[in-house]
Amino acid sequence: MKKVLVVGGGGRCHAIVDALSRSPQVGKIYCAPGNAGISAQAECVPLKETQVDELKAFALENGVDLTVVGPEVALAAGIADVFAAAGLRVFGPSKAAATIESSKDFAKQLMAKYDIPTAAFETFEDYDQALDYVRKGSFPVVLKYDGLAAGKGVVIPETFEEAEETLRDMLLDDKFGKGKVVVEEFLTGPEFSFMCFVDGKDVYPMTLSQDHKRAYEGDKGPNTGGMGAYSPVPLIDDEDLEFAMEKVMKPTAAAMVAEGCPFKGVLYGGLMKTPAGVKVIEFNCRFGDPETEVVLPRLESDIYDIFSAVADGTQMPQIKWRKEVTMGFVMASKGYPGSYEKGFEIKGLDSLPSDIRVFHMGTALKDGQYVTSGGRVLMVVGSGETLQDAHDNALKAVESIECDNLFYRRDIGWRVL
Ligand code: AMP
Ligand code: GLY
Repeated sequence: MKKVLVVGGGGRCHAIVDALSRSPQVGKIYCAPGNAGISAQAECVPLKETQVDELKAFALENGVDLTVVGPEVALAAGIADVFAAAGLRVFGPSKAAATIESSKDFAKQLMAKYDIPTAAFETFEDYDQALDYVRKGSFPVVLKYDGLAAGKGVVIPETFEEAEETLRDMLLDDKFGKGKVVVEEFLTGPEFSFMCFVDGKDVYPMTLSQDHKRAYEGDKGPNTGGMGAYSPVPLIDDEDLEFAMEKVMKPTAAAMVAEGCPFKGVLYGGLMKTPAGVKVIEFNCRFGDPETEVVLPRLESDIYDIFSAVADGTQMPQIKWRKEVTMGFVMASKGYPGSYEKGFEIKGLDSLPSDIRVFHMGTALKDGQYVTSGGRVLMVVGSGETLQDAHDNALKAVESIECDNLFYRRDIGWRVL
């Protein structure tokens, strides 16, 4: 039986642990650092996702057969390179390949060079030049900090004054860190998440999902890491999907090979169906969160085989998906994505119907009780024959969970219901 280490501690890693636990080949799952919910399905290891050397030592000492990396920070810290150099099997891209997410400018330049459809853009280091460019353009305008910012590095000002303030934050006051700014054309249309398993040049699609980035109902409020998701996405037809595969995902994998940094892991295309066709909003170098929590429960194949095929560069098995559809609601701490308090007791998790899956995003155990310990706290996933069924099941479960400091959007799936 195989021993697997999952690196990370949010809802995405809970869903990965859950999928691995269904593999008949997997006998032991470690998760570092994991969280209170994950500890019911895996042995949590008190190491942070960026403690790369300590994680390597742990994997070597414990005879770990395969390591699966969840968060981008660990990949950007070079965990895949360090593990590979130590002869450890790892699922996740190299530090060089992870640049497709860790630098918005790298991703945009790559798309420009290889003719991959995306919004028009210009990158700036200088505040005055950026301001000048924005002054001459139209609004809203999209301003992206060129570095990892946990989904919060994108601001879409409606007015020049707002843009000025954001550019000041990003380029003069370094509020997101020291980095450039990508100024991008504002596109419209429904967004969807297209995650693919990529083994260098070969691209294997996962079923589609759609996230809800804004904090509040009606797609209002600040951008978050994601407030809910569902899978599949009926708004996207076969033609769009083929375009996304042939004109976006495959050429991007090929471009990474041509650039000398082949991508191995999950390539996440954050795509938009604009009036002018499907375009790339962003790439991520890992599973999406909360998309993974609705996609992996639909995976029928053995995920250990898929991870192994990518890690070893061997034949990919056929990837099968269940017909049953899924929808999930994120329950987040009041104040998120801004500041929030922690430590509020969560009740009602024991009495949910058996077909509801609860993935813990940010919980801890205190005196045997689950308490809140993060911005996003739980992802509650319902399933059914239709998205309406999945929605109703999940919402009913969410409403029965008691906690004084959580909020959620009730309108997850509004575009399709
Ligand atoms: P990103 O982190 O690049 O995915 O951006 C976060 C969110 O900002 C996206 O999910 C979109 O909702 C929005 N966004 C980013 N770029 C654009 C764009 N060019 N046009 C319209 N909305 C955008
Ligand atoms: N849900 C968007 C992301 O994972 O980046």
